[in-house]
Amino acid sequence: MSQANGGGMIRLGGIARQGVIGVLQGVLTDMIDLFTHAKVAHWNVKGPAFIALHELFDQIAERAEDHADTLAERIAALGGRVEGTARHTAGASRLGPYPAAAADWAAHARALAAALAVAGGHARQGIDDASAMKDAASADVLTEVVRDLDKDLWLVESHLGV
Ligand SMILES: [Fe+2]
Repeated sequence: MSQANGGGMIRLGGIARQGVIGVLQGVLTDMIDLFTHAKVAHWNVKGPAFIALHELFDQIAERAEDHADTLAERIAALGGRVEGTARHTAGASRLGPYPAAAADWAAHARALAAALAVAGGHARQGIDDASAMKDAASADVLTEVVRDLDKDLWLVESHLGV
C-alpha cells in the first residue's frame, strides 16, 4: 500500500528509506572513486601487456561510471539527495588512496585489484543491509554491482597470475 507523505512523494511501502539511501550513497561514493582509480591506471600503465591492460582498466572505469549512475538515480527515486562531487567523494570514499608510487604495470594492477576487493566487500555488505531493510530492488542494484566487481577483480588478478 502506498500513500502520499508530507513532501508529496509517494511512499514506497515498508522501506526504511533513509537507511537504504545511506547504503546506496556509500557504494555510489566508492564507485565514483573507483572510476578515478581505474582511469589513473588506464592512463599510466606501461609494459608488455599494455594494450590489454589499458583497455581493461578503461572498461572497469566505464562499468563503475554506469553503476554510479544507476545507484544515484535509485537514491533520487527514493527521495534522497545525491552526493557526487570530487570533494565529497575524496572525503567519504572507503577505498584507500591510489598509490602514488605505482610505476610498473603490476603495481597498477595490484592497486586496482585492491580497490575492487574493498569496493566489492562494501557492496556485498550493502546487499545484506538493503535486504534487511526489505528493499529487494536496491539489493538487486547492489547485486549487479557486486557481480561486475567480482568479474573485474578476476580479470585483473588473472594478469597478476593470482
Ligand atoms: Fe582513454
